[in-house]
Amino acid sequence: MKKRVLSGMQSTGKLHIGNYHGALEHWVRLQDDYNCYFFVANYHSLTTLYQNSKEIYENTLQVAIDFLAAGIEPDKSVVFVQSLVPAHTELHLILSMFTPISWLERVPSYKEKMSNIELADLTTYGFLGYPVLQTADIVLYDANFVPVGEDQLPHLELAREIVRRINHYYGETFVEPLPLLTSFSRIPGIDGRKMSKSYDNAIFLGDTDEQIRSRIMNAITDPARIKRSDPGHPEVCNIFAYHRIYSSSVLSQIESECRMGKRGCVDCKKECFKNLIASLATVRERRYNFEKNKDYVKDILRDGSKKASEYANKVLNRLREKMGIIY
Ligand code: TRP
Repeated sequence: MKKRVLSGMQSTGKLHIGNYHGALEHWVRLQDDYNCYFFVANYHSLTTLYQNSKEIYENTLQVAIDFLAAGIEPDKSVVFVQSLVPAHTELHLILSMFTPISWLERVPSYKEKMSNIELADLTTYGFLGYPVLQTADIVLYDANFVPVGEDQLPHLELAREIVRRINHYYGETFVEPLPLLTSFSRIPGIDGRKMSKSYDNAIFLGDTDEQIRSRIMNAITDPARIKRSDPGHPEVCNIFAYHRIYSSSVLSQIESECRMGKRGCVDCKKECFKNLIASLATVRERRYNFEKNKDYVKDILRDGSKKASEYANKVLNRLREKMGIIY
């Protein structure tokens, strides 16, 4: 029996190469060895975008397109949208009855938001319950493993606590999920900060060649290099971080030429662009084709959501029966 995997991403916008190398690429590899469920967490995006929920509609499709372009295959994995599987909202409500507020108030993402006065105003009942909804997402599929980045570990820990509490009251009902750490190396944005849509420093899978070229040509390299002959420090260079991913066959040559001041940043960026385009060619071409065929993407999502619902409803009823809320 294959073990079960579930993961998801919020629909806050198109995905970038950091999301791809940090998560999607790993998900794709899990598909053959596990029963995989991958979904777009569009209800989770409402916690921050509730005033602009119309944006979420298109963003959800864009994230799904990124999943499929990356190589998530609907014949191998179940690909679905959270809002098309009502069991998530129902289980979220039930779990909320079992979750002490104090457990939620000590989740780092919540504490961080509350310490920021401007954002604290935006904090809602739903935002406090964000990790409860995430727990519902996970346990509805009996997931053994949840591939996530480090920032999600506290959410996983909370999910495990909620599972233990339910299992304590009602006997073995839910599987206690384990994290599967994926993003061990973080890719910097072109300015050296964390790659993020909100910093305007990201390279998106859906960008055109021209957009990618201009991103790379504008990237910050080693600030100590003013003249071409100045010795470089690849370890602080954002372009070198990309070379590590896209130029592995010539990496040591790039590194030594940079250190000796024999390679200019402009040439180095051109080579980076060329190798990035070559590495991501398949993904970007698939993306282009899915983008032209959104009706097909919607069909995939509806179909996947139907399959997801079948499984999730069984798990939900397992609990509802034990609780005595089903007749
Ligand atoms: N909170 C996750 C993130 O921001 C997205 C998410 C929602 C998720 N539900 C999930 C991830 C369930 C894994 C499992 O990245």
